[in-house]
Amino acid sequence: MSFRLQPPAPARLNRCQLFGPGSRPALFPKMAASAADVINLDLEDSVAPDDKEQARKTVIEAIGDVDWGTKTLSVRINGLDTPYWYRDVVDLLEQASDRLDQIMIPKVGNAADLYAVDALVTAIERARGRSKPIAFEVIIESAAGISHVEEIAAGSPRLQAMSLGAADFAASMGMATTGIGGTQENYYMARAGQKYWSDPWHWAQAAIVAACRTHGILPVDGPFGDFSDQDGFRAQALRSATLGMVGKWAIHPSQVALANEVFSPSESAVTEAREILAAMEHAQRTGAGAAVYKGRLVDIASVRQAQVIVRQAELIASHP
Ligand code: COA
Ligand code: MG
Repeated sequence: MSFRLQPPAPARLNRCQLFGPGSRPALFPKMAASAADVINLDLEDSVAPDDKEQARKTVIEAIGDVDWGTKTLSVRINGLDTPYWYRDVVDLLEQASDRLDQIMIPKVGNAADLYAVDALVTAIERARGRSKPIAFEVIIESAAGISHVEEIAAGSPRLQAMSLGAADFAASMGMATTGIGGTQENYYMARAGQKYWSDPWHWAQAAIVAACRTHGILPVDGPFGDFSDQDGFRAQALRSATLGMVGKWAIHPSQVALANEVFSPSESAVTEAREILAAMEHAQRTGAGAAVYKGRLVDIASVRQAQVIVRQAELIASHP
């Protein structure tokens, strides 16, 4: 047991991050009107090289012009291995309105990547007198990223969220896959003529959750490419939620409601959590350290588990 307390993650909703290409401004009002907690306007891989410059201008204008309500507004910049990223940062920080909350840095490979972007952002914020500090979110989507996930999670006080980017991650790892996230046909165990599919993303997710929880960052599951497969999305999201992730990306509007449903604790889960808290309060009043709830042991660790669910329910209830 460490004497260091685990820092809480930022107290904001991040059940669904809806992405849209920065080169398709017709989508922006629809994104703003969606039920997603976070909006990611993309300057990276959904924008073709010839469109990068125009998309940057379009996004900068839309940050101020579109009514984004109370959503967290984030722009995904280009990777540090491209010639575009510094101009993304400079123009966003110099020209975009204060409505911008966050920039998302893709393909982060180590803490120095965060340091570099942080140095640039900090200098521009000071030069321009920007009063609202820009937050960071990062994508772990490379072998280097997952190898250095803990130092990345500790890499900048601006860092609020970290996502797993399944497609680039699979490519970087040399995985024999083509789908974006979800179950992979050839990843199974076999017994008595039956196949049992396993989850190839499990260990990377667990590593991200551990790094994030150690440093008070929100761990998020990334894209699920097959947006006609709602069962597949729900199953992937349920696994992520079970492992401790707080939300998932939507790359199509049909995925928003699914993500919100999975990452909002159900009424029965909240009721059970409150009953466990009540059972333990009663036990502690009578001097006991443990109690029996519905035929099973509950103790102080059960209280901590129940508090995770109740806190999330309260956060949702307090959301306008
Ligand atoms: N956000 C909000 N609305 C969206 C949307 C998005 N990301 N994508 C599509 N829509 C809208 C469409 O405009 C359409 O609206 P309408 O009913 O008013 O005409 C409706 O949702 C249905 O769209 P559909 O025809 O099924 O999709 P599409 O062919 O226009 O676009 C994609 C499909 C996948 C290309 C598009 O959803 C997309 O670009 N997604 C994000 C990709 C991205 O950002 N990737 C980077 C992260 S991995
Ligand atoms: Mg990617």
